[in-house]
Amino acid sequence: MDRIKAEQRVTELNEQLQQYGHAYYVLDKPAVPDAVYDQLLNELIGLEELFPDLVFPDSPTQRVGGEPLANFQKVTHEQPMLSLSNAFNEEDLRDFDKRARSGAGEDISYVCELKIDGLAVSLMYEEGRFVRGATRGDGRIGEDITANLRTIQSIPLRLKEPVSLEVRGEVFMPKGSFHALNEAKAERGEELFANPRNAAAGSLRQLDPKIAASRNLDVFIYAIGGDAETYGLTNHDETLSYLGELGFKINPERAVCQDVDSVIAYIEGWTGKRMDLPYEIDGIVIKVNAYLQQQDLGFTARSPKWATAYKFPAEEVITRLRGIDLNVGRTGVVTPTAILDPVAVAGTTVQRASLHNEDLIREKDIRIGDHVIIRKAGDIIPEVVSALVEMRSGDEEPFQMPENCPACEAELVRIEGEVALRCVNPQCPAQIVEGLIHFVSRNAMNIEGLGEKVIEQLYREGLVADVSDLYKLEKEQLIGLERMGEKSITKLLMNIDASRSNSMERLLFGLGIRFVGEKGARILSEHFGSMEALQHAEVEELVTIFEIGDKVADSVVTYFDNEEVHGLMERLAAADVNLTYTGTKVRVEAGANAFAGKKVVLTGKLEGLTRGEAGERIEALGGKVTGSVSKNTDLLIAGEDAGSKLAKATELGVEVWNEERLLEELNK
Ligand code: IVH
Repeated sequence: MDRIKAEQRVTELNEQLQQYGHAYYVLDKPAVPDAVYDQLLNELIGLEELFPDLVFPDSPTQRVGGEPLANFQKVTHEQPMLSLSNAFNEEDLRDFDKRARSGAGEDISYVCELKIDGLAVSLMYEEGRFVRGATRGDGRIGEDITANLRTIQSIPLRLKEPVSLEVRGEVFMPKGSFHALNEAKAERGEELFANPRNAAAGSLRQLDPKIAASRNLDVFIYAIGGDAETYGLTNHDETLSYLGELGFKINPERAVCQDVDSVIAYIEGWTGKRMDLPYEIDGIVIKVNAYLQQQDLGFTARSPKWATAYKFPAEEVITRLRGIDLNVGRTGVVTPTAILDPVAVAGTTVQRASLHNEDLIREKDIRIGDHVIIRKAGDIIPEVVSALVEMRSGDEEPFQMPENCPACEAELVRIEGEVALRCVNPQCPAQIVEGLIHFVSRNAMNIEGLGEKVIEQLYREGLVADVSDLYKLEKEQLIGLERMGEKSITKLLMNIDASRSNSMERLLFGLGIRFVGEKGARILSEHFGSMEALQHAEVEELVTIFEIGDKVADSVVTYFDNEEVHGLMERLAAADVNLTYTGTKVRVEAGANAFAGKKVVLTGKLEGLTRGEAGERIEALGGKVTGSVSKNTDLLIAGEDAGSKLAKATELGVEVWNEERLLEELNK
């Protein structure tokens, strides 16, 4: 065949196969027998072999491409991927409806959709071609998993129209594929996935797209990432239809409801039927349909006010409590864990459950040997709800917390105002190991390949005593450790090395300073820019930072006021670990909006949003929010009942705005 004919035929085959693939994978309605599809595909493969320059990137042969990746690139979402507020019962739903109607008018309709229990993803299309797919990550920054997403047959590589847009959806593993995967894993003696959601997440996190390709993942698309109105759409229902026309897989079970009663009826219907679905859902999403009304309602910092997620109630089962294990956490808190007769609940087998603390055990009078009720909601760890006292035989034993740490024998203390018992020995091996586990965890330094078991070994063998030792590990030391093959050692050392260049907030969070969570670490890193500067910060300065309170400030200063910690910083620096902030704080030019470059103070009670939310939005626009009014303050936002700060601002001649003005500027 000559090249011109081949090109014609290749184009034809591409189009045909795409059409048949769409019918099969997206619409679940095969247009031709499998054998016909396979025959055409083989013909295309043959032609592509003969004419390699005719292999188009969106050819159906190109879903599984290339070599495994070394790691995932970070991706900043143009529009943050928000989450949804929750509703747990009818009352919550009626409240949501009331708020929606009071904000957007009585004439309102809702779209109800199944809440797919999988992983949120963002898919970018340029001129109709799939160019990039990413995980949600922390909502602002996710990971580029394009290669894995391309392997999902129901994600179109080319759309029916050459539009550029971002869509959002949920990747999931159908129940059937999940069971088959676990059966195969069991046969090979491998660890099983706890539920389809974890299986889907585990598959998307693989660096080798061949693995994702073998996992039979699927997707439902539920929204456009940016402004849907640019595409001439006026409501969510239309958007879903439009996305379906473009070739995306849309869940067919949605309904438009004219009032909250029909929303509740929809939910009740699915509460009974959800077990029959071939995929798992964990609730129902309710969205205000009309975009104009969505805009009237707006957002909080975390979620839209025009939508909510109804969560199905947690499943409860009865089993026996066989014993109580004690676990010493990173901060020394000793928590009791229930050891149970294995029992199936909400799709997984549960053998351990949290008992929270001693007081709770006593309050609920839970005894070893009791029949107990276990509850599990979604991916939340199972907990013991209560004991069935009427089923006691008399042999049950009350539980008593030990006086000494189960890991290091040091005496346990109860800190005033806390229910927990704590081991305060800084050399306690359990705490050190937990601290190391935290340090390498995904949201901290993100060092893959260092599981709990490996860390325990490293500590036990004396190879790692604190986090800086991780950076001195050498191949020879790791050979011979359990679970560590040559390949995993090489990978691990690469991952450790890569973590050296993490931006400071990951390190700061990873150090596990009390009260410094992920968000606090980010705020502090953005503010100080380096560990060095943070080390010298004083409480007075720290508390002027918006959203840093006394507790965090004290804790940070106490942490750094310690020779040990100075030594640790030096060792980290000597190991070439980056100690500065290299993150992506968006720099907004002064004057770009009403807040950029200005020092703003918030006071009084706001109605439409919390002070925290207002502060976040002002900072996102380049403003700097501080805690107290001084002559350097540019602007005071005064809500209801503003007091001394308003008086001081007036005295100093600082500009003062009310909430209405604030919202007006924020929404510009
Ligand atoms: S809409 C602005 N619709 O549930 C938020 N979310 O917290 C837009 N989810 O992580 C979300 N099915 O991944 C929406 N039909 C659906 C959904 C859905 C599942 C997930 C989503 C998000 C979480 C909501």
